[in-house]
Amino acid sequence: MAAKETRILLKHADDPNYSTSIDSYLAVGGYKMLEQAVTMKPELIRAEVKAAGLRGRGGAGFPCGVKWDLVDRKSGKPIYLICNCDESEPGTFKDRQLVHKDPHQLIEGIMISAYANNVALAFIYIREEMPKGARILRQAIEEARAKGYVGENICGSGYSCDIIVHRGAGAYICGEETGLIESLEGKRAYPRIKPPYFPAVLGLYNCPTIVNNVETLCNVVHICRMGSVEYAKIGRPNNTGTRIWCVSGHVQRPGYYEVAGITMGELLYDLCGGPLPGRKFKAIVPGGGSMKILRYDERFKGKNPDGSEYEYGVDDIPLDFDGVAAAGSMSGSAGMMVMDDSVDIMEALANLVGFYSHESCGQCTPCREGSLWAKKITWRMCRGDAREQDLDTLVSMAGNIGGRTVCPMGFSTTWPVQSYVGKFREEIEAKVRENKVGMRGDIRLIEK
Ligand SMILES: Cc1cc2nc3c(=O)[nH]c(=O)nc-3n(C[C@H](O)[C@H](O)[C@H](O)COP(=O)(O)O)c2cc1C
Repeated sequence: MAAKETRILLKHADDPNYSTSIDSYLAVGGYKMLEQAVTMKPELIRAEVKAAGLRGRGGAGFPCGVKWDLVDRKSGKPIYLICNCDESEPGTFKDRQLVHKDPHQLIEGIMISAYANNVALAFIYIREEMPKGARILRQAIEEARAKGYVGENICGSGYSCDIIVHRGAGAYICGEETGLIESLEGKRAYPRIKPPYFPAVLGLYNCPTIVNNVETLCNVVHICRMGSVEYAKIGRPNNTGTRIWCVSGHVQRPGYYEVAGITMGELLYDLCGGPLPGRKFKAIVPGGGSMKILRYDERFKGKNPDGSEYEYGVDDIPLDFDGVAAAGSMSGSAGMMVMDDSVDIMEALANLVGFYSHESCGQCTPCREGSLWAKKITWRMCRGDAREQDLDTLVSMAGNIGGRTVCPMGFSTTWPVQSYVGKFREEIEAKVRENKVGMRGDIRLIEK
């Protein structure tokens, strides 16, 4: 039987009769969970979120309840909540859908999370390139305020909390939580070093701060509605709930798909319709541009409960955090980019590396210089004037970026270079040797 979506967060999103107005949201039971939450003890809500096993949907998959537990509640300082709506990872467009199509679900998720953590001021940090989203959110917040769901004395409970929508200026690094915090404070978004700047202890204005992704916070509403036990039945253990996958590239039906408990092959074929006519899949980038690429013909080894080994391919990869990690990559921001046999891997890498070089904030030398070198090397490979030793230089240099910088962005150059070259070395070498790859007009590389 063909796999289907499990729409929970996107249940109403594409209903033509559903709108972004509060009346639409109230008509489907919206804000009921907030009304209930503010009558409960905050620690009970936190315990539910932890028991549900919700993992962060922004990239790293850190358990949300554990993050909330780490908040310093004894400092006497205010605690802030920031909703990360920067969505800057190439190939990712799920948060945009949640904001554009169901903004009140996000506001309810923020308000419940804020109440659960004794937060009196929350922020939505939204990317410059989402002006429509910012407009929608501001209007939705005003509607919610008028009905008593945001602002003073929420639902008559005595609890008060406001939400500020803050528009970023449009930079990839502002998605990284500490860069985001610097930006929110009005400074250049240079990420902070951890320790000591773990947001849960020293975040916004050096106060304890929770940073959660849009999709993570939307899930909180449904954990409250279903209860942690029912919620945890969705998906696999340690990978609970649905995930919204953003599929772009060479499939028949690219788009966003909210799924649980399916394989990569089921997403690619049943939901996305398979490859384009006459084409074959060549490679998949599973979790946004910075994640390691998978060859479509790659084989992996798994272990049965009795310890015996079995082999499986890309189509069999369980589509969740642990499934993609076991295949040597990460589900990251769930931005899946599909490449078929028409793609020149060398050009794809050069394009991506050009992006990360452009977006390096410049604070750390390995990332600033390394990504620029990687761009220069890959571009001259594309132009056809590569040097003999270039490929080895590229790989060894890339290995010296990730892990040697203040924030994890160094890996955005390291992982693509290592995996594209590691898995497609023969193809790249052949192109370089034959000196036949010209810089074509149909690829748009960013000049720095
Ligand atoms: C370079 C870089 C860019 C990031 N961009 C985003 C982003 O656009 N949106 C996001 O939610 N998280 C992004 N993250 C992850 C955040 O730092 C943070 O872990 C996340 O917002 C936490 O939310 P979660 O626990 O709900 O996933 C990025 C991380 C790095 C290192």
